[in-house]
Amino acid sequence: MAEQGDLRAAERAGASAGDDPGSGAIHCRDIYKWFGSSLIINNLQLDIAHKEFVCIVGPSGCGKTTLLRMIAGLAEIDSGEITIGKQVVTKPLPTVGVVFQHFGLFPWKTVIKNVMLPLVASGVPKAEARARAEAAIELVGLKGCNDLYPAQLSGGMKQRAGLARALAIQPEVILLDEPFAAVDAQTREVLQEELLNLWGRHKQTAVFVTHSIDEAITLADRVVVMGVNPGRVVKEITIPIPRPRTVASVRRHEQYAPLREEIWDLLRVRDSRADTKGTNANE
Ligand SMILES: Nc1ncnc2c1ncn2[C@@H]1O[C@H](COP(=O)(O)OP(=O)(O)OP(=O)(O)O)[C@@H](O)[C@H]1O
Ligand SMILES: [Mg+2]
Repeated sequence: MAEQGDLRAAERAGASAGDDPGSGAIHCRDIYKWFGSSLIINNLQLDIAHKEFVCIVGPSGCGKTTLLRMIAGLAEIDSGEITIGKQVVTKPLPTVGVVFQHFGLFPWKTVIKNVMLPLVASGVPKAEARARAEAAIELVGLKGCNDLYPAQLSGGMKQRAGLARALAIQPEVILLDEPFAAVDAQTREVLQEELLNLWGRHKQTAVFVTHSIDEAITLADRVVVMGVNPGRVVKEITIPIPRPRTVASVRRHEQYAPLREEIWDLLRVRDSRADTKGTNANE
């Protein structure tokens, strides 16, 4: 994302605070979620290791966003418990960064003000917040864009700004809900590659929701496949492709095609009685 020479100050922005080897571990135990009388998530169990990169795929409506929002402390858990490190999630934790599909940038604030916002809101002094925000902006390759407004940015740049805002808080855990779905296919591959690089250097625990099987295999240590009606985990698949990875090296790997087929078959079977729209093996 950033030029090599720019990185030294920026490295600090992405450096995870987590020296405790368990602090970024996520455990979802016996999770149930209803909306009205509809059971949306049924007895979901999921364990994610400290610094693991997990992608979640599943049919539209199976509860991926709902699960991410519960992990983020943004949605109530009706039954069961989610812990991050030693903390039980009951509200948003300061060590968790969130990136959503539609960027979530405030249009009336500049890039630097958007990125500083969660830092200032959590009581970081303004000068320090600005320095950390500048470093995060540099880290995602948006150096020179501090004073631009979201309307002046391309989709890819907006997504980078959203990522910078999540990284500036130096999270132990980063939760991403279809972050690249709103950009064109070429930009998406560039962003995937940049995320691979960035994550290779800083390694937060990452939970990344996507509809793209290719994207999941490219990024993840493990792909969690969810089923629908009600939402639950149907299979967890370890991705044995070594790191460092590039988009091209993943596609060339001998395990790539069989993994893609396995995940696609799981989704097809699960989708046959439900909504099949949205999950695309060809994305
Ligand atoms: N605030 C809400 N009130 C009522 N129902 C909701 C609410 N949020 C989500 N739902 C329902 O819960 C189910 C799961 O929604 P969710 O957004 O988590 O699915 P998803 O897997 O993220 O889908 P997609 O892939 O389309 O983003 C859906 O049936 C949805 O209609
Ligand atoms: Mg969703």
